[in-house]
Amino acid sequence: MTLAARGGVSPTRVHEMDAIVVGAGGAGLYAALELKQELGPTARIGVISKLYPSRSHTGAAQGGVCAALGNTEEDHWEWHWFDTVKGGDYLVDQDAAEVMCHDAVETIINLEHLGLPFDRTEDGLINQRRFGGHTRNYGEGPVRRSCFAADRTGHAILQTLFQQCIRREVTFFDEYQVLDLALPEGPDGRVSGVIAMQTATSELHAFRAKAVLFATGGYGKIFKVTSNAHTLTGDGMAIPYRRGLPLEDMEFFQFHPTGMHRLGFLLSEAMRGEGGFLVNDTGERFMERYAPTMKDLASRDVVSRSIYLEIAEGRGIGGSDFVHLDVRHLGAEVLNKKLPDMSGFIRTYFGLEPLTDLVPIQPTAHYAMGGVPTDVDGRVLRDAAGAIVPGFYAAGEVACVSVHGANRLGTNSLLDILVFGRRAGKRMAADLADLPEPAADAEAEASVQAHARDLLEGTRGERPAVIRAELQETMFTKCGVYRTQQLLTECRDEVAALRKRARHLLVDDKGSRYNTDLGEAFELNFLLDCAEATVGSALARRESRGGHAREDFPERDDADWLKHTFITRDPAGGDLSLTYKPVTITKFEPKARTY
Ligand code: FUM
Repeated sequence: MTLAARGGVSPTRVHEMDAIVVGAGGAGLYAALELKQELGPTARIGVISKLYPSRSHTGAAQGGVCAALGNTEEDHWEWHWFDTVKGGDYLVDQDAAEVMCHDAVETIINLEHLGLPFDRTEDGLINQRRFGGHTRNYGEGPVRRSCFAADRTGHAILQTLFQQCIRREVTFFDEYQVLDLALPEGPDGRVSGVIAMQTATSELHAFRAKAVLFATGGYGKIFKVTSNAHTLTGDGMAIPYRRGLPLEDMEFFQFHPTGMHRLGFLLSEAMRGEGGFLVNDTGERFMERYAPTMKDLASRDVVSRSIYLEIAEGRGIGGSDFVHLDVRHLGAEVLNKKLPDMSGFIRTYFGLEPLTDLVPIQPTAHYAMGGVPTDVDGRVLRDAAGAIVPGFYAAGEVACVSVHGANRLGTNSLLDILVFGRRAGKRMAADLADLPEPAADAEAEASVQAHARDLLEGTRGERPAVIRAELQETMFTKCGVYRTQQLLTECRDEVAALRKRARHLLVDDKGSRYNTDLGEAFELNFLLDCAEATVGSALARRESRGGHAREDFPERDDADWLKHTFITRDPAGGDLSLTYKPVTITKFEPKARTY
């Protein structure tokens, strides 16, 4: 029977849990593990995941996770702290980055004890490699700080944490798409659960719990060329945004320098960390001009902008929109043993041989520095003044702590998910005793039901894929690496027009089994919400900082813009409003960045 024939979808099952984690990547799994460890085996901890957990995007992270272990050369967590603040173009909250860089060392040791198979030095220590922006001793560099498992570090983290969660009997709800929060008392109240659709049946499930963690990852699919998987549609940002909660620093989106040309798939920075470099059409190693000290291992925003400038000035390969990555000199031992997946990608997707061929690359949309604002324990903030939303937590890319400021350093994202996923789990466990019993949100359940029914019964409208493709093109060309007032204004208007068109979507599949058409219709609306918040925040920020480069305001402006953006949408009228929050500076005074 089709869903429409039986009157659409309806809540068929209520699940009562103690705590719910949405998302089964590194942040979600570490939080679930901590919850079980803190609360004991009888605690009802549920992990709800849109995918089967081992397909979570953490598994795509390649080059490493950083911690100042100093295993192969001198390093100190305070140096890591400084590099993170500088890398973020001084928009980093320094107290939060201090927590992350300090906790990094113990977190990596804990992961090792959980069974993570890191690469080893000849002495049996965790091996470490170089990554961009990680300097040595306050400004020289680079330093070997990234711990790795070949070029499959995220995969190793995901498998390790998943196995530990299974061992501790965490309950998994695989292939459930979360569509709304239960906020029974409205936007000023507490979070009391979530409403999700089971992909296999299209049935709605209401999950009730005193504490809910969002660890749903990013929203790179708003861009045409991206390293992000098809499922990274910003669900965990859009859901609270619709409910009138703020998103922080959404204008800062990172473009990773070495995406595979046109495909966007990532070729890890570890390829440059191991000695690879970029060349333009004349064969020049151009990063020596832009970043004389760090060269190809300058921070990502610097390298991506340099590639764009080379292309704009006609030095892309054959005058085209890409440059080359040269790894030929690394030799078979490094390419096949330390970078086996990367070498395989080049062979499989390009039909090129990295030992003998140059590799075409272009910057690819990679990482959201912004997201749901939280404190260092994952508690979601209601406003720029720091009030919290009881029962609601976020960690990982969906969250903005803010430890990455305007530009994240490579390998700080795996660190972020581990440190803050774990801390959020501990905090949730500690808070549970004081949080009230969960309540149903009948209005939210009815609204999700009505939306699903509308989508299934509609016979006219546009296919989600058509609108999604236009959105991705618009965001990539008008809100990408370089921005101007004119481009951003056009982008804002086009996103608004796409939002209008998306009110009438045509879902071809009217069945109830694995109706991914229906899922993609919901996802399109999440993407549109994230795009609105991104371009709205970007239009207002009239300066260049980190991942937000304005051709019309090329300088960083600390006098007016050393502050975080909070964007909210009024759930009733749809009006957007922007407020700002000062950056926390505890040790490092902002100064000009050089690499
Ligand atoms: O290049 C990479 O391996 C990506 C790492 C990261 O984004 O942290």
